[in-house]
Amino acid sequence: MEELTQEEQHLITLAIEGTNRSYAPYSKFHVGAGVLLDNGIEVIGCNQENAAYPSGLCAERTALFAAGAQYPDVPVRMLAIAARGTDGNLVEEPVGPCGSCRQVIIESETRAGGPIRILLYGQRHVYVIDGVKELMPLTFSEF
Ligand code: THU
Repeated sequence: MEELTQEEQHLITLAIEGTNRSYAPYSKFHVGAGVLLDNGIEVIGCNQENAAYPSGLCAERTALFAAGAQYPDVPVRMLAIAARGTDGNLVEEPVGPCGSCRQVIIESETRAGGPIRILLYGQRHVYVIDGVKELMPLTFSEF
């Protein structure tokens, strides 16, 4: 954590705050996401589950979709992700975004016109990823 900038550390605290707001009564796996926009505005997301399981949504997508709905013309610069396990503690090692979220991050990069810095938080390690293409090669992003 000490190696990160203040801006990065702050975004991680927002992702952690997202884990507290998460609605995950079924999995009890609470995921939070923080999005930093190019104009400095920050948006928090968290997983939203549903009794009809597929109707829920991951933290990363709630954050990116909320940002897209509220600030459609503002590029996304950075995304932080944190998770709290079923024991209620923040995960020791980072959790990576699921495939569908990766696809949505690609779309946000296309809209932003450049890579989005991704911070994956774990108590032991934080992974810093310079663009979702590092997580997902040969992406489908245009047709
Ligand atoms: N989840 C996320 O919020 N983000 C991910 O990238 C992976 C999984 C959520 C979905 C579900 O509410 C819970 O974690 C367990 O899968």
